Amino acid sequence: MAATVGIVGVGLVGSAAAYAIALSGIAGRIVLVDHVPALAQAQAEDIAHAVPFASATQVEAGDYDRLAGAEVVIIAAGVNQKPGETRIALLSRNAAVFASVVGEVRRVAPDAILLVATNPVDVMTEITTRLSGLPPGRVIGSGTILDTARFRSLLGRHLGISPQSVHAYVLGEHGDSEVLAWSTARAGSVGIRDFAAQVGAAITDQVRAEIDDGVRRAAYRIIAGKGATNYGIGAGLMRLTRAVLRDEGAVLSVSIHTPLVAGVRDVALSIPRVVNRRGVTADLMPDLDAAETEALHRSARLLADLAAEVRL
Ligand code: LAC
Repeated sequence: MAATVGIVGVGLVGSAAAYAIALSGIAGRIVLVDHVPALAQAQAEDIAHAVPFASATQVEAGDYDRLAGAEVVIIAAGVNQKPGETRIALLSRNAAVFASVVGEVRRVAPDAILLVATNPVDVMTEITTRLSGLPPGRVIGSGTILDTARFRSLLGRHLGISPQSVHAYVLGEHGDSEVLAWSTARAGSVGIRDFAAQVGAAITDQVRAEIDDGVRRAAYRIIAGKGATNYGIGAGLMRLTRAVLRDEGAVLSVSIHTPLVAGVRDVALSIPRVVNRRGVTADLMPDLDAAETEALHRSARLLADLAAEVRL
C-alpha cells in the first residue's frame, strides 16, 4: 500500500516539504496538520493543484486523527528565525509547542518514524526523543543535511563537477558551531585537495574561507533577504523521507540522540548516518583531523549544555 506521510506545522518549511514530497511521488498520501486548520486546508488544496503536473499523490488536510497509519511524520511546527536571530534563540518557544504536538503524533501514529525540522533542530530532536519515548534511531532531526548540501554545492561549483559527485559532510550543530569536515572531503574517490590540484582549481585559504562562510552564513543571508529559508530545507526533508520510505540505506548527515560523540554524552547532533525504513541504523564517524575533532567536541558540548537546561 502506498505510504502516508504526515506533516505537522505547514508554514513555510512544512509546506515546502509537502510540495517537494508531493512532486517527487515518493508517498501515496500526504496529510497536513496545523494549529490553524484553515492554513492546512489552503496549503493542501494549493499543493494538490500542482500534483497533476508531476505525480499522483493524494494531498489532504485534517486533524491529528488523519495521521493514523503514517509511516513518516515530519514535525515542522513552531516559530522560525527573525533576521539576525540565532536558531538557538527559538528554543523556549518551540519546546512549549512540542510538548503537545509530540504526544498527539505518538497517539495516532505509534509506528511512524519522526522527522524533526523545527529549529534549533538538534535540541528539538533531543526533546522529541525524550517526549516520545522512542528509540533514538526513530527520531531523526534534519540536522546538517542542508548544510552538507550547501557544502557540496559550493565545492562542486568551485571544482566544476556535480555536487552529487562531491562527498563532503558538515557535522555537529545545525548552526553557528557546525563543523565542515574538509579533511575527509572527496571528489569521487579522490581527496578534494588532490582533485582540485589536478583540475587547476586549488583550494586556497581564501577559497576555503569563502566556502566556509557560504555554508555557515547561508541561512542568515537568505533570511535577511526573504524573511525565512524554506526550499532548501523542504527538499532536504523530502530526501530524508525518501531514504526512509524506500528503505534506501542512504548515508545522510542527520541528527539523532547519540550516547557518546566527540567525548560528550547524551547529545543530538549530526554525523553521517545510515537511514532506512527503520530510521537510523548505523553511524559513520569520519576520521577527522585534530582541529575538526576539537570543533566537534565544542559543538557537542554546546548542544548538550543547552539540552540539559530544558525542563519537560
Ligand atoms: C536553514 C534553516 C533550515 O539553515 O535552519 O536554512
